[in-house]
Amino acid sequence: MAAMTEYQTITGSEAVLRDGTIKLHGPAGFEGMRKAGRLAADILDALYDLVKPGVTTGELDDVVRQMTLDGGGVPATLGYRGYTHSCCISLNNVVCHGIPGDKVIREGDILNIDVTPLVDGWHGDSSRMYIAGEIPLRARRLIEVTYECLMIGIDHAKPGARLGDIGAAIQAHAEGHRYGVVREFCGHGLGRIFHDAPEVVHAGRAGTGPELKPGMFFTIEPMINLGKPGVKMLSDGWTAVTRDRSLSAQFEHSIGITETGCEIFTKSAKGLDGPFG
Ligand code: MF3
Ligand code: CO
Ligand code: CO
Repeated sequence: MAAMTEYQTITGSEAVLRDGTIKLHGPAGFEGMRKAGRLAADILDALYDLVKPGVTTGELDDVVRQMTLDGGGVPATLGYRGYTHSCCISLNNVVCHGIPGDKVIREGDILNIDVTPLVDGWHGDSSRMYIAGEIPLRARRLIEVTYECLMIGIDHAKPGARLGDIGAAIQAHAEGHRYGVVREFCGHGLGRIFHDAPEVVHAGRAGTGPELKPGMFFTIEPMINLGKPGVKMLSDGWTAVTRDRSLSAQFEHSIGITETGCEIFTKSAKGLDGPFG
């Protein structure tokens, strides 16, 4: 028998447990997520001018930390399960969770920057792709299609739909372009908790999984590989790379299900959250 999905109504900003239930939030939650999501988007907006050849990923991490603090938040990744940086920066064949450091960005690189400011107890989790100078056309196409995958997934996020509808739509689009959809990492519920139920897989079957209900908050964050979907973990315990060394791209938004569809909490106020800013 399929596992029963349990939902839990959250009325305000009360403490919640990571107990496997899917939280259904009210207006206070939407307000909290708007503020956190707005700061995430503002930080990602500011990074376009800073990503260029010669800059290190550690320097970008410093900017993310300072902007998060200046915006009244704290980077949720700082001290999270032993992680000690303010964002993740994943270059070229790195799928996700790249650790900022001395690595110098070079002409032709593509990179994902993933930020999660924690503001007044709410998590705004979002990532976008950045490019350094001129990049090959195949990298450009991968980034465009990955962005389309995110937005197609969001199109399916509405009450009455099933979680599996989102993954199925993303998988169909990516595989239609002969790209690989990463299975080892997925989107997640969030709110007062950084990584909560449900798991939002980016592949699967339509009509399966929990029903989407107003007040559900979760991320959609497809990782799409130019080659095969397989990933490999590096010995640092965080960095995931493509097994076949192909390029990988990712975009992430945090959303909330409304009565009619969904609200994107991490939208850019400047309209910069498209594939290339
Ligand atoms: N922001 C990532 C996500 O989208 C999680 C990063 S956790 C870290 O879920 F510890 F690796 F930073
Ligand atoms: Co996330
Ligand atoms: Co993220």
